[in-house]
Amino acid sequence: MAQRLQASHLLAVVSLCLLASSLGGGKPLVTPITKDASTSLYTSPLEDTHPLVLDLSGPLIWTSTCDNPHQTIQLSERECTQANQYTRPDCWTYTGTGSYDDAGGATKCAAHPYNPVAGGSCASGDLTRVTLSANATDGKNPLYPVTFPAVASCARESLLANLPGGAAGVAGLARSELSLPAQVAATQSVARKLALCLPSGGNGVAVFGGGPLYLLPPWLIEITSSMGSTPLRRYQDQPGYYIWINGININQIPVPLLGHNSNYNVNGGEIVTELRRDVYRPFVEAFDNASTSGFGMQRVSPVAPFEMCYNRSKLWSTRVGYAVPQIDLILEGGARYVVFGANSVVQVDDATVCLAFVEMKRPEELGYAHGQQAPAMVMGGYQMENNLLVFDEEKEQLGYSTLLLFRQTTCSNFNFTMAA
Ligand SMILES: *[C@@H]1O[C@H](CO)[C@@H](O)[C@H](O)[C@H]1NC(C)=O
Ligand SMILES: *[C@@H]1O[C@H](CO)[C@@H](O)[C@H](O)[C@H]1NC(C)=O
Ligand SMILES: *[C@@H]1O[C@H](CO)[C@@H](O)[C@H](O)[C@H]1NC(C)=O
Ligand SMILES: *[C@@H]1O[C@H](CO)[C@@H](O)[C@H](O)[C@H]1NC(C)=O
Repeated sequence: MAQRLQASHLLAVVSLCLLASSLGGGKPLVTPITKDASTSLYTSPLEDTHPLVLDLSGPLIWTSTCDNPHQTIQLSERECTQANQYTRPDCWTYTGTGSYDDAGGATKCAAHPYNPVAGGSCASGDLTRVTLSANATDGKNPLYPVTFPAVASCARESLLANLPGGAAGVAGLARSELSLPAQVAATQSVARKLALCLPSGGNGVAVFGGGPLYLLPPWLIEITSSMGSTPLRRYQDQPGYYIWINGININQIPVPLLGHNSNYNVNGGEIVTELRRDVYRPFVEAFDNASTSGFGMQRVSPVAPFEMCYNRSKLWSTRVGYAVPQIDLILEGGARYVVFGANSVVQVDDATVCLAFVEMKRPEELGYAHGQQAPAMVMGGYQMENNLLVFDEEKEQLGYSTLLLFRQTTCSNFNFTMAA
């Protein structure tokens, strides 16, 4: 079945972080990540047994499990300001920090949860306090369970539409004060750092608070000590993780990118990578040229939502996926982030594989004001699978392992057995 094109934003933020980073000394927390088969979204069992969907671009945690009545947060509290620091361009009508309490006074704090799936839906809900749980870790095993308080927005059950069955809400992982990584950092006295290893099957792993991170067979290897890195950038006051890329090579040949930007920014968070119009066209044409002229691949009819699809029986399988033209993102400073077959093409049926990149909606459809540009690329979860990514808010760096299949391991090889 085709990878469905839905958004799974994942990410984290800061809150009380000065306190957290100066104290230090806590243990990082680990949680498994499951890929939902029908939606291709990634979830973690963070709220008792309820999974929350991971959203790299989301600034908030939200849940549909608020009791009635529930604790509310006052308009004057710092968390109320933090919860309303970011407004999505497509949610500009959902603003305002106050909502009416039952006695008719506008005293309690309203937040604006967002469902990133299926085009996105915006809502309003009370800001409240919830209890989340995960395990402390030494990077090799879970050590002991930890429960911790977190500020989250309540949401109506209707906001769960199109999320995986059983999911209670969304854990925003972006660069905001109330994202999950920021709140773990504040409560556990660990670094504001998220190690994210999305699985293609089985249980992937997320570690809040930083490395080390060991993955199993054939050897117990520590991944975070040998990784590339690139600076995290800010873009248009949005809370997502952005990096600059200077260009794209396909099969070592630069793609002739148009447009007036010499830098292209990349955000994280869709199911498959979306490319802005001016980047998408030359990109797919260069890939198709390299595929058919250099790799002897045979084009077949497109399978929606993908455009460039190929006859699978003409393709070789390798340890790092199908043998297709290599895609290099040229990062700031010249380092390359390399995308191999396992992350660039997706098998949609027995006979067909497709280039797993799609064209982004137009800026107007995304809610951007006239003249504002969308990022050139929104990196999708599929392109991150079996790559360890470390979002380090303290160093403002993105660390990347490249495809773990080269090291003969995968994101599903964390040892989730409790340490003896
Ligand atoms: C801690 O890890 C154990 C073993 O993997 C698991 O059974 C348990 O559900 C985890 N607890 C939490 C709170 O995540
Ligand atoms: C098409 O691919 C061939 C072989 O890889 C290469 O030599 C040529 O430069 C490519 N043309 C374009 C327009 O990318
Ligand atoms: C794919 O390639 C196989 C083997 O060469 C061939 O038998 C089949 O007809 C091709 N499929 C399409 C849709 O062209
Ligand atoms: C996983 O961790 C447990 C607890 O430390 C250990 O007993 C077991 O041998 C480990 N599994 C593997 C495959 O190394």
